[in-house]
Amino acid sequence: MSLAGQIDGISAAADAAPPASWHAEQTKLSRITGAPMELFLDAGDERSLTTQLYDQIRRAITDGRLPAGARLQPSRAVAQALGIARSTVTDAYARLTAEGYAEGRRGGGSVVLGHDAPQPELPEAPTALAPTARAATVRRYGVGLESHPRYDLTAGRVDPRLFPLADWRRCTNRALTSLARDFGHYSDPAGSIELRRTLTHWVARSRGIATTADQIVVTHGAGHATDLLARVLLRPGDVAAVEEPGYPPITGLLRSQGIEVVGVPVDEHGMVVDALPDAARLVHVTPSHQYPLGAVLSRQRRLALLRWAGRRGAAVIEDDYDSEFRYLNRPLEPLHLLDRDGVVVYVGTFSKMLSPALRIGFAVVPPGLVPAITALRQAVDFGVPPVTSQTLRTFIEDGHLDRHLRRARKVYARRYRALRTAVSSLPDSGFTPLPGQAGLHMTLLAPDEPDDGELDVRSTRQGLQLSSLRRTYQHSPPRAGLVLGFGAIPTPDIPDAIKLLTSLYR
Ligand SMILES: Cc1ncc(COP(=O)(O)O)c(C=O)c1O
Repeated sequence: MSLAGQIDGISAAADAAPPASWHAEQTKLSRITGAPMELFLDAGDERSLTTQLYDQIRRAITDGRLPAGARLQPSRAVAQALGIARSTVTDAYARLTAEGYAEGRRGGGSVVLGHDAPQPELPEAPTALAPTARAATVRRYGVGLESHPRYDLTAGRVDPRLFPLADWRRCTNRALTSLARDFGHYSDPAGSIELRRTLTHWVARSRGIATTADQIVVTHGAGHATDLLARVLLRPGDVAAVEEPGYPPITGLLRSQGIEVVGVPVDEHGMVVDALPDAARLVHVTPSHQYPLGAVLSRQRRLALLRWAGRRGAAVIEDDYDSEFRYLNRPLEPLHLLDRDGVVVYVGTFSKMLSPALRIGFAVVPPGLVPAITALRQAVDFGVPPVTSQTLRTFIEDGHLDRHLRRARKVYARRYRALRTAVSSLPDSGFTPLPGQAGLHMTLLAPDEPDDGELDVRSTRQGLQLSSLRRTYQHSPPRAGLVLGFGAIPTPDIPDAIKLLTSLYR
């Protein structure tokens, strides 16, 4: 039999020694809140109950979970919580006091003392568990996720200064108030019906796509939507086609499911449809703005892709990750609009429109897939938090998204032009800018040297953060170049950043 109880003033349950930053945080927390820690007593343990208590509290003190100054919970409360005699607890406290781990306070109670006891040996890093070879092939993409360099040209970033914080905060407050009575239960795994209705109007307005709320699944972003779709559409060993170069996390998530991923080349008209592997059951494509080369999938290729997929019953995921920002031509019709066979799943995200930190996007899914996807959602994560969903819904309905996009488009259009000008005014730099006309990045082909590692070191030293083109190749020999993100860099900094960049290549 084992007994467990929560003791206030003791800061955490884990037995393993946590990292230093955790200690600092917990010291702060337990002084403020007296956060509880589980204590376990086992009647089958050969040690006495007093010794078991003493050992656990002493260990919490020596490994920092119980910091100096923390109050030990009154012995009566501990005895009651654990269902044991009070003398068992007072004996344990007396031993801690006698050995200098705690001291009694006038007026009652005991507090933890600062101590010089050596830190206990860290437990050996567990070796029994290891990722499968398949999981181990998946790599993180992107560098310096939380860094704030002097010049930030990292791909995939948006400008946090543009985020409409006050509006978002107001919408969040309203969401909290309206949802308070729903806090006792789980939400709809497809996403709240109110947000799904709003999204049907949004895709109709922004992309001309006619759908119903029943066909919308709210996700944690475009990548997550692709993950869900692959899980319900493919079996391990099936073949999926992705663009090469492309967005590496897509290849990673597919491979982690045991899917064989084939890279299909991309040229100035987008994915080369003639090169699709016959066996592919799913094609992931970025028609509005190919990542990373920037091409728009031509109308001819769109129709060819749909014919190809329609004949085979293969799924096409239309990843429309950044189409809200376009600077030159009008967008082409989405694949979803041209689809006559029901093979296309349109995937949208608010990561670029608003912020990647919100983790919210959606998929427009053929009706036959909805039950399987929602059941999977329920099994895995139960969907997007209702507060975020409701906030986004109010944010869109009240016109804040439209206002934000109007403002952001102007800012990003200025940056796009400034970057084009800065890059094209470099005489004999060796860079070839590719003709992208949308989104938040511009891709340059570059001379072969330096290689990525060297470039990272040199650029970081100079306060410049970059994304390499080479790293977007997963299936074939990479081309040297840069994917220059202009979402986060203030427009006046662009000329200096580009001058600095060219100096790295000398
Ligand atoms: C092609 C592509 N798909 C998906 C994503 C990620 O979108 P999300 O944050 O919605 O998962 C990105 C991010 O840059 C991308 O480039």
